[in-house]
Amino acid sequence: MSNFTTQNPGTSVEALRHHYCNVGNEFYRLWLDPTLTYSCALWEENEGHDNLQAAQLRKIDFHVAQARVKGAKRVLDVGCGWGSVLRRLLDVHSVEHAVGITMSEIHYEWISALNNSKLEVHLESWMDHFPKEPYDGIISLEAFEHFTKLDLSQQERIRVYREFFRVATNG
Ligand SMILES: C[S@@+](CC[C@H](N)C(=O)[O-])C[C@H]1O[C@@H](n2cnc3c(N)ncnc32)[C@H](O)[C@@H]1O
Repeated sequence: MSNFTTQNPGTSVEALRHHYCNVGNEFYRLWLDPTLTYSCALWEENEGHDNLQAAQLRKIDFHVAQARVKGAKRVLDVGCGWGSVLRRLLDVHSVEHAVGITMSEIHYEWISALNNSKLEVHLESWMDHFPKEPYDGIISLEAFEHFTKLDLSQQERIRVYREFFRVATNG
């Protein structure tokens, strides 16, 4: 996907391993919603906090609508976490094939275990993703922050984000 030549400029595999694998799925199940969506939810005015799952699904549906991928053939989720967007694309939005990329082994194993032929997951960075076919749309929720590090200069960070959008729009 990318011709970026520097070493990974973002969150390392080791940091993600520490954050996810060393902690384990059970911890995240305690406080995330049942879909294990790990990004901000979209709440209605005065909605109670016991509606976390509804607010997460509302958020996912909002982004699916924004990306205009309902019924699409192939959709990519960059930084797919435990795969909630991928499953929603297949189960509710009639997408034919959903592809996720994550740098966390725990996410990769979780999604692989779903054993769904319409669902594909890759354990790699967006910089190393070379799809065989183009995508009809790309969604990415709360992964962007991980693509650079704070100790990079502003110029370096801008360079990474330019590269991300270059490959995302050119395939
Ligand atoms: C906070 S989680 C968000 C998960 C998911 N988007 C959600 O809303 O539930 C961040 C995700 O970004 C992934 N990630 C971090 N850096 C990445 C990179 N360079 N390329 C692809 N995925 C990356 C992590 O592995 C993790 O799955």
